[in-house]
Amino acid sequence: MQTETSRKLLSDLTARFSRVRAATERLLKGLSAEDCAIQSMPDASPVKWHLAHTTWFFETFVLAPNLRAYRPLDPAYRVLFNSYYNAVGEKHPRPERGMLSRPGLGEVLSYRRHVDEAVHRLLAETRVAPELAQLIALGNHHEQQHQELILTDLKHLLSRSALRPAYQKPWPLTPIRARVRGWIQREAGLYEIGHAGNGFCFDNERPRHRVWLVNGSMYERKDGAIHNTTSVINPQGEVIGRYRKMFPFTPMEQGVTPGNDFLVFDIDGVGRFAVLNCYDIWFPETARTVTAMGAEVILHPVLTFTIDRDVDIAIAHATAAMFQCFMFDVNGLGAGGNGQSCVIDPSGRFLHRADTLEQFIPIEIDLEQVRRQRKNGLRGLGQMTKSFRDRPIDFPVYDRKNFDSSYLDSLGPVQAPQRDTPNLVTSWAKKNRKQG
Ligand SMILES: [Fe+2]
Repeated sequence: MQTETSRKLLSDLTARFSRVRAATERLLKGLSAEDCAIQSMPDASPVKWHLAHTTWFFETFVLAPNLRAYRPLDPAYRVLFNSYYNAVGEKHPRPERGMLSRPGLGEVLSYRRHVDEAVHRLLAETRVAPELAQLIALGNHHEQQHQELILTDLKHLLSRSALRPAYQKPWPLTPIRARVRGWIQREAGLYEIGHAGNGFCFDNERPRHRVWLVNGSMYERKDGAIHNTTSVINPQGEVIGRYRKMFPFTPMEQGVTPGNDFLVFDIDGVGRFAVLNCYDIWFPETARTVTAMGAEVILHPVLTFTIDRDVDIAIAHATAAMFQCFMFDVNGLGAGGNGQSCVIDPSGRFLHRADTLEQFIPIEIDLEQVRRQRKNGLRGLGQMTKSFRDRPIDFPVYDRKNFDSSYLDSLGPVQAPQRDTPNLVTSWAKKNRKQG
């Protein structure tokens, strides 16, 4: 006997299943069979493959174990449309999904009908066990995930065409309303992130937890001086340390007193972190010091809107490679900077490059990568951290007493460039006029 709850659950689930499956097929409006068959790059999949793969999910995980009379439409689809579920067995190589001219789009749509009807049969005759309900809910969410992939893969595909086709032309565009800038108010206190409640969520949204917070950089008044300070706050809401920028961006950043302490801290069971602030990384000694203290991740808030952001990013990239550490180089936006935040791994690969719009960058990193690169060399090559440890000389440039700094002194003080400073182009032009 079905209980009231299970009857309600059953009808909600059935309705949602139908809605999600129909929404996927609505994405095909205006597309040709050829649009649906092409794979524009190894990381993208053809629309047809997405249509079949989401169907395969229901066939493999919902129907095969739960509907006794179920017969697969074609047993070969089990391999063709498996994606990354190694436990399910063989799979067709991902970069070759665009080679599947068969089954055709019509056959894939028939496959969808076949599976849809079977899922409806299952829902009609079975009392919904909680596990089965969860599995179908997972299938629905998985299908919605692939709806997004269909759109992103299609956009890439269409972008490759010289005809510049548009997927849709929904004119007029949705109006955008200007927002008045102002403070966003938040109650003080301890906050948690992650899924709360009993509804559906993916594994990676759990467990609900508190977070470590690095607040970017703020001016701090301390003992009569002003510092440019980055604070680190632990999940209990305690400030565990304040890093004060060592290299204020002189001559533009004035009145800021440099700090003289590094901030390196451990997160239990994770690894060792350090904070550097903005212009600091233009001085490799800062990253050298914190990584020699064992830092595996450098958290690097930046606040720049200047034209040298490309150089800034190149230095962050080089820092990750030179010291085999993760670099989180996070720049402000709008009035606070020109964005382009990036995350680079200890082998010098960009894990993420943001554009100039607001973004969340949820990213998972493996600190074992740092340990491996430092031990075995960057991409198995240079073992710079150990070679630096074994350096044959003490660099004389750091010996302020004995190093001949006459060249450095000849450069003059740090000051804003003056308009009347003769520049190289003017000198060159004068010289050439004389000769002419
Ligand atoms: Fe998938």
